[in-house]
Amino acid sequence: MNKEDSILVTGGAGFIGSNFVLTWIMEIGSPVINLDNLTYAGNRNNLQSLDRDSRHIFVHGDIADQALVSDLLREHKPKAIVHFAAESHVDRSIVAPDAFIRTNVFGTFSLLQSARAYHAELSADEQKRFRFLHVSTDEVYGSLGPDDPAFSETTPYAPNSPYAASKASSDHLVRAYFHTYGLPVLTTNCSNNYGPYHFPEKLIPLMILNGLEGEQLPVYGDGKNVRDWLYVEDHCSAIRAVLDSGRPGETYNVGGSSERQNIDVVTTICDLLDELAPSDAIGSRRKLITYVTDRPGHDRRYSIDARKIRQELGWEPAERFESGIRKTVEWYLANQNWVENVRSGAYHQWIEANYAERVAR
Ligand code: NAD
Ligand code: DAU
Repeated sequence: MNKEDSILVTGGAGFIGSNFVLTWIMEIGSPVINLDNLTYAGNRNNLQSLDRDSRHIFVHGDIADQALVSDLLREHKPKAIVHFAAESHVDRSIVAPDAFIRTNVFGTFSLLQSARAYHAELSADEQKRFRFLHVSTDEVYGSLGPDDPAFSETTPYAPNSPYAASKASSDHLVRAYFHTYGLPVLTTNCSNNYGPYHFPEKLIPLMILNGLEGEQLPVYGDGKNVRDWLYVEDHCSAIRAVLDSGRPGETYNVGGSSERQNIDVVTTICDLLDELAPSDAIGSRRKLITYVTDRPGHDRRYSIDARKIRQELGWEPAERFESGIRKTVEWYLANQNWVENVRSGAYHQWIEANYAERVAR
């Protein structure tokens, strides 16, 4: 495989990034330079299967380090940058927003500056081929009522959490680098992902692990908030499709048409655990469900209209929610070592801080 087919991935040791790197090596096979500064959410164990694979080059560093990024770009001459690196947890952004501004806003700005300088040095043919793909979220569009139409690419931005505002800000910077400097950018706005290597601070893995251990299942508010769930490998295939055939300057909404109320997601997980990991001591996992104090500014409903990527690029998700959630529960049951490794002291401190003050209702 040619060196000029290599790509630079940022945040490739996180949940979606590591799934992307693993599937890229399997499906495409060209080299990946993986730049990640290994925050609490970054985990090299996610990429253990590539330890002896020369196509995966891991670099421990910050996207905001322009000297490092420029050296990497000059050395490896990637044909694309796929930008996942971010602070990604809404609850953490409410408790401590600083890191979200630093990485999601300033980090993206800094990466864009490095990409712009690199792009300017490329030959005309290389410039034509180069892409900067920014991985963003549906949370930039705000919150929907029960009968509102799904978010499309023209829905006005209305971010409600510091996380969503930081991602919206980064989307605007990416857009500006296309219009002002001609950097060939692409943006994807995706709904909630789930699947292997999902850090257990997020709803689905938290409920799987708490349920497995007979701990309370803390459901925020009335449990009727709706998310549109997409299996992570389907998000990865969407990103590959956009990178391959997306039109520079365009944005693409990505979603699985799998809207579920949180409480339905949690009861589905309870029933799967009762079936796959029955425990006489715990009994029915549904009994563990505990309604707790809501998230401030909690968006009620997300829903994605993915007609553009389906019609223009022929992308379709392969997984249905029912099969994907079963595979996900099975993955956590089969990967207890991974779970033990990610649940460090810092993880326990976060769980203590986030849930101690959420009184059961
Ligand atoms: P994650 O928190 O699991 O992983 C983030 C990764 O970025 C980690 O490996 C972390 O170490 C790395 N990182 C953080 N700051 C960095 C920095 N300054 N320099 C280099 N690396 C840094 O996040 P995720 O859930 O995999 O999300 C990846 C991207 O996809 C994010 O941009 C997020 O906004 C977006 N997104 C996520 C979802 C979802 O459901 N998880 C949905 C839509 C979009
Ligand atoms: O929509 C895409 C976004 O999805 C991504 O951009 C974010 O990076 C990702 O974290 C995710 O954000 P959410 O806030 O939707 O995900 P989270 O798993 O934190 O919560 C999902 C829903 O479950 C939400 O309505 C809050 C609720 N929840 C969450 C936790 C952690 C609970 O009821 N209890 C919990 O303990």
